[in-house]
Amino acid sequence: MKVRITGTGWELPEYEADNNYLSTIVETSDEWITERTGIRKRHLVKDETTTSLAAGAAKKALLNAGMKAEEIQLLIVATISSDTETPSTACQVQALLGAAHAVAFDINAACSGFLYAVHIAEAFIKSGMYENALLIGAETLSKLVDWTDRGTCVLFGDGAGAAVLTASESQGILSQSIGSNGSKWEVLSCAGRPNQNPLCQGEGTPGYLRMDGQEVFKFAVKTVPICIEDALKKAGLSPDEVTYFLLHQANRRIIQSVAKRLKQPEERFPMNIDQCANTSAASLPILLAQMNEQGRLHPGDRLVLSGFGAGLTWGACVLEW
Ligand code: UT7
Repeated sequence: MKVRITGTGWELPEYEADNNYLSTIVETSDEWITERTGIRKRHLVKDETTTSLAAGAAKKALLNAGMKAEEIQLLIVATISSDTETPSTACQVQALLGAAHAVAFDINAACSGFLYAVHIAEAFIKSGMYENALLIGAETLSKLVDWTDRGTCVLFGDGAGAAVLTASESQGILSQSIGSNGSKWEVLSCAGRPNQNPLCQGEGTPGYLRMDGQEVFKFAVKTVPICIEDALKKAGLSPDEVTYFLLHQANRRIIQSVAKRLKQPEERFPMNIDQCANTSAASLPILLAQMNEQGRLHPGDRLVLSGFGAGLTWGACVLEW
């Protein structure tokens, strides 16, 4: 038995902030951001929330899959920017959708979150415990970045993407490769609230995203090709047999470097980073859903989805569309 994606959806906040707008907030320029990252603009929330974006993407994915919310058995939201500490975003989305029969929970694997969700859902569906799953990557990273730090605030955007997974006899997920290296957690992190109980009187700053960009860059260009090659080997495929490589949209230069290492033309690495920037856990499902909507995916296409991020975490998934 295989597990396949039967529907996708995406949702972005209405407001678009281009690089020139950001140059009025921090000392930066359209030229620097475009050249170093490939980003031209990002969507930022005004009235939307992580939950509302997640629910919007999920509704479209259900429609695309031809399923009703009540049929969903497993609902996972991958996010690091939940609107509430508790309950989970997944439970709030469950209520908005009316997915009354689903088991709903969040996972935190940063930019690899969607692939971690796929990993979990495939195991549950293959075990026979559930027949389907609704997976959502949703972020409002604009509330986690320090808007005085030009090294990070220009990189991220808000948004959500979703996919419905169901058991399948023929096409679907062929292999996965996934990993974590907690010893490098400090390279990219966001502190929680300081504890101010009567004993701690905790000090500290609010939880802003802090990143050693060059370390993350080096980690990504080294780990992603290895991870993809491992997943392809498990699927018995060579990179030449892949229709599209969908990579986490963090930096165009990272994607170009991976393409070079895999000796594949850049055209097989679709990008929307210029429009959306880095939306963390939402990045892969947004890209997948946009390609699906544009009619660029055909039965039999072989796709590689690969992501990397805080943790450190990484993953790759090979599937037949
Ligand atoms: O989702 C996963 C998370 N993150 C990533 O994947 C990020 C991975 N890393 C990167 O994408 C890149 O390292 C960055 C885009 C973050 C930075 O690019 P870089 O080529 O590594 O630049 P840098 O950090 O070496 O900085 C070069 C210069 C510095 O100035 P000096 O010291 O040379 O005078 C920075 O202060 O660029 C300066 N700089 C900026 N200048 C204008 C840093 N940010 C900006 C900015 N605008 N926004």
